[in-house]
Amino acid sequence: MRRKLVAGNWKMHLTAAEAAATVESFIDAVELRTEVEVVLCPSYLSIAKVKELTRGKNVQVGAQDVFWLPKGAFTSHVSAPMIAAAGCTFCIVGHSETRGRFGKLEIPEETVCNFGATDRTVNLKIGALLEQGIHPILCVGETQVERDAQMTDAIITTQIAKALDGHDPDELTELVVAYEPVWAIGTGNVCDTAEAERVCGLVRAVLGEVIGDERAENCRVLYGGSVKAANARELFAQPNIDGGLVGGASLDPKEFAAIVASA
Ligand code: PGA
Repeated sequence: MRRKLVAGNWKMHLTAAEAAATVESFIDAVELRTEVEVVLCPSYLSIAKVKELTRGKNVQVGAQDVFWLPKGAFTSHVSAPMIAAAGCTFCIVGHSETRGRFGKLEIPEETVCNFGATDRTVNLKIGALLEQGIHPILCVGETQVERDAQMTDAIITTQIAKALDGHDPDELTELVVAYEPVWAIGTGNVCDTAEAERVCGLVRAVLGEVIGDERAENCRVLYGGSVKAANARELFAQPNIDGGLVGGASLDPKEFAAIVASA
């Protein structure tokens, strides 16, 4: 039986002081139950504070990204041993924003290189996280143009296969995959429930091909993209949707508590 998981991705929001206030309000508002795993992914600068405030509570802390080498002359980057030492037990990898794929924001060509995650670096990051015993939350998803061109299933299949290539299937039972259609992120255009369930089922089938059906049955598959309290219950009730990766709505403590209650 898979445990539901609800993760909040705070992206580039909240200073450490604001993060602390948000966590405190969230803990006051939420009813934490053992059947639901809750993960907060603040900015690197707030991880220590969020960890301190959630100690002893049923709330895990995750990072939003990681570099794949353990240490070295890589100015600005943060390694898996560093986030493990800070108490992170989860880490998002391959989010469409780190891949330079945005739902509604057009970015100028000359800045695309700042969002450099590729299938290859996502693969390396997963290896670095597994080595530290951190659960990767692998994000996959198609853009609107790719959906319109009927490429959704091919994109999902390729992103998963390339991300997992070469990793030990036994270690990959720690993996969480989030289906996040790029066009649904931050746009208010939530994916239709039946379609979200269909693609999450496809994610599990592809996982089955790569790591074996039995292991795939134990992996959590999340939906992400404009999840809010009003649509979470229906989404999370689907057989292949084990919870959500929540962006904007996770910044509002009451709204996020209501989403957790839906799981
Ligand atoms: P959203 O973001 O909930 O604001 O759409 C989801 C995500 O990017 O993980």
